[in-house]
Amino acid sequence: MRQTRRQFLGATAAFSAAAIAPHRLMAQASGFAPITARTAAVQLAPEGYAKTDIWGYDGAMPGPTIRVQQGARVQREFVNALPQASSVHWHGIRIANAMDGVSGLTQDAVAPGDTFEYDFVVPDAGTYWFHAHNRSFEQVARGLHGALIVEEPVAVDVDRDEVLVVDDWLLNPETAQLDPDFEAAHDRSHAGRSGNFIVTNGDYEFSTDVKKGDRLRLRLINAANARIFVLSLAGLEGWAMAYDGMPLAQPEKIEGDFPLAPGQRVDLFVDVTAEVGESAYVLRTLDGQNMPQATFPVTAASTGSMRGAPDALPANTIAEIGDLADARSLILNMEGGAMGQLEAAILDGERRTFRQLADANQFWAFNGVIGMTDTPLATLARGETVRLTIKNDTAFPHAIHLHGMHFREVAQDGQLGPMRDTLLSIGGQSNEIAFVADNPGKWLLHCHMLTHAASGMMTWVDVA
Ligand code: C2O
Ligand code: CU
Repeated sequence: MRQTRRQFLGATAAFSAAAIAPHRLMAQASGFAPITARTAAVQLAPEGYAKTDIWGYDGAMPGPTIRVQQGARVQREFVNALPQASSVHWHGIRIANAMDGVSGLTQDAVAPGDTFEYDFVVPDAGTYWFHAHNRSFEQVARGLHGALIVEEPVAVDVDRDEVLVVDDWLLNPETAQLDPDFEAAHDRSHAGRSGNFIVTNGDYEFSTDVKKGDRLRLRLINAANARIFVLSLAGLEGWAMAYDGMPLAQPEKIEGDFPLAPGQRVDLFVDVTAEVGESAYVLRTLDGQNMPQATFPVTAASTGSMRGAPDALPANTIAEIGDLADARSLILNMEGGAMGQLEAAILDGERRTFRQLADANQFWAFNGVIGMTDTPLATLARGETVRLTIKNDTAFPHAIHLHGMHFREVAQDGQLGPMRDTLLSIGGQSNEIAFVADNPGKWLLHCHMLTHAASGMMTWVDVA
């Protein structure tokens, strides 16, 4: 943005006029702490640029971090002060279905001026997040997301606990306002809406001082609409401790790059090895170049000695995947997009050619069907073990997210991978996941490249 810096024309808050004045909101009946989705203007672009009009929880970007103990009950009154209906999804929480926050599947979208009481228990410790789940491709891009941290019942041996929400924004470089074309056909049919302004916790030069020898717990959350962050460490040495909230049985030493797809999280324990006066970094690799994603200036040395390799975080109590030989087998064929092979698919109950689909701004099919219909991908018996083959017959990567239940990837040799809620699927490849369908209700299964979800990549499973 710096190269295209121009004089400002005094951008006005386009949405504030349309927003609902707080006094018109329904009186709070529940006594639950409110969480209000509203418009705000925040200094996102560097000093000298105008503030950016966003939609944020409590007007913040990212929204306020919600931190609770494992097993706690979360009671929040969602207040919609936006000019558009919305709902809140608690991503990765094995939640009661009615609280999952999916507009059009588990609840009606909450109209402007209305409220909804979210009331649920968090069964698992770990790093989770919450975000809008109505017109997510627009609402998440406008800033409606925040971290939900569930703390372990035991003290974890680290000096610092940092939540790092990585995100990108598609801004007009002159006005610093969001590109308002959330449904651009090119984004939808290609890799999704990718931003030109990359931030951590809303800050394009996020920095926090550390001490040499400190052990940091970094909770990385990818809240971007479509960007896969490729991250690495410099001046930090450490381990991946948990993916998508769920602890690894064995910490994994970080060597080289690691990807973080939209919706995914990773908990790292890292020791600061950079010298006093230098900086340590989480770096992102983009077009072959490493750029700081988060900077940790080393301002002092810790008085303690370096710790050894960490013990695993305490496991969450989740039903283990049973014998795969008896499992129910399902398939998800993903097709479509630019440079794909999709010739035709069903849209609104009718077969349409790819050209007709493109005219309708719909590009992706799951098993030959575009978008969510009344028919689930499968109706599952409660407690059933499911193996789902996810075949990516497209030219693009996708981040496939299952609501309500975590899964494990099944390797070629039958070995089970770590527990996750979002799978990075690479174009042309096939992955298999397995899960126990032990959470009753209607659970969405979709691409977390939110532009893709909005242009076809969405289905659901029904657990009876
Ligand atoms: Cu985080 Cu249905 O999404
Ligand atoms: Cu996708």
